[in-house]
Amino acid sequence: MAEHPAYPVGLRLTGRRVVVLGGGQVAQRRLPALIAAGADILLVSPEATPSVEAMADTGEITWARRRYEPGDLTDAWYALIATSDPETNAQASAEAETRRVWCVRSDNADAATAWTPATGHSEGVTVAVLTTRARGRDPRHTAAIRDAVVEGLRDGTLVAPHHRTRTPGVALVGGGPGDPDLITVRGRRLLAEADVVIADRLGPRDLLAELPPHVEVIDAAKIPYGRFMAQEAINNALIEHAKQGKSVVRLKGGDPFVFGRGMEEAQALAQAGIPCTVVPGISSSISVPGAAGIPVTHRGVAHEFTVVSGHVAPDDERSLVDWPSLARLTGTLVVLMGVDKIGRIAETLIEHGKSPATPVALVQEGTTAAQRRVDATLATVAETVRTEDVKPPAVIVIGEVVSVGPKTPAVAHPVTPE
Ligand SMILES: C[S@@+](CC[C@H](N)C(=O)[O-])C[C@H]1O[C@@H](n2cnc3c(N)ncnc32)[C@H](O)[C@@H]1O
Repeated sequence: MAEHPAYPVGLRLTGRRVVVLGGGQVAQRRLPALIAAGADILLVSPEATPSVEAMADTGEITWARRRYEPGDLTDAWYALIATSDPETNAQASAEAETRRVWCVRSDNADAATAWTPATGHSEGVTVAVLTTRARGRDPRHTAAIRDAVVEGLRDGTLVAPHHRTRTPGVALVGGGPGDPDLITVRGRRLLAEADVVIADRLGPRDLLAELPPHVEVIDAAKIPYGRFMAQEAINNALIEHAKQGKSVVRLKGGDPFVFGRGMEEAQALAQAGIPCTVVPGISSSISVPGAAGIPVTHRGVAHEFTVVSGHVAPDDERSLVDWPSLARLTGTLVVLMGVDKIGRIAETLIEHGKSPATPVALVQEGTTAAQRRVDATLATVAETVRTEDVKPPAVIVIGEVVSVGPKTPAVAHPVTPE
């Protein structure tokens, strides 16, 4: 008999009874999507994995702790049959057939009346990839096609033009510390849709090279500011481009709100009546130490971490940092923008009680191909910065956490130069 292809369809299961037989790994993998679809789920199984049990405990599913009994599918619209007993599966799928309930079988795709596609989500669209026929099924290939499509949509390599209106106005996008892989999916998508990108020196600059030629890329440091302050000139540039109806991305290093002046830009846009979306980013204050093998907290070593700006010296009247209090803390101190003033910072911390032997690490250009880590102590750090010629941008970590890990990158994926 000729084998016809499966007919793809989207089931709208909200409030409708779905019966799941078997509480093992298959159920564990399938239940979240059924819950997300709003189905009224009855799980029938004597046992369940801890994750499935947790779903029952929180009331997301109803769990009947027993084996399958004929009649279990009476009110079902859809059934997932995944017990470890082929006999039971066959019996239940026979009941499904009699009752005309579409049923998926984990043990025998041939005997099932429905198949679960490999699914993924992007931009409010579900991508579902289905094998055409039972014979020669290759679930890994199906999943790989799903991954290729979803990844491509997310990173902009697969372009599917929108016929809805695009995100209007300006998106303040946190680009992460520098490695182009460390921007969020949302940030990357907005970048792929932008007409104009105003970028900082820090952040994932490699991504700019991937933008199509029609996209205008503006270096924020080069915006002429004449009678304005530099920040005001950037705000004006954002406003002007957005007023021309363009999709503008303000690409910033790390997170827009961690020493990033993101709120000043958001306020200026609000005042000009321009819609603004803020996309968080991975801040260098946590990720750069991590990339150099330094956890900002560690069990039994540091129960707190404090992130401060070192752009003005502790004795400068403009400083808002309470350095004497910081010297009394036992946790980790992370200093951004502190390379130039590290000498005075170290002296002040020692003056107020911090041990001169406290370990210090400076991580320069973290998560990029040029990443470099230099170690010192509070007593030696000023001299080390000079002799090792440490340059900004660098994150400075002060505290015992510096010594807990290996000195090779733990989580970084350094960018290989072309
Ligand atoms: C103006 S602050 C912006 C911080 C950013 N918003 C964030 O959340 O990471 C700039 C400082 O962040 C730190 N920084 C940012 N990216 C870095 C990187 N890749 N490596 C080392 N330090 C970095 C440096 O201390 C630099 O002087």
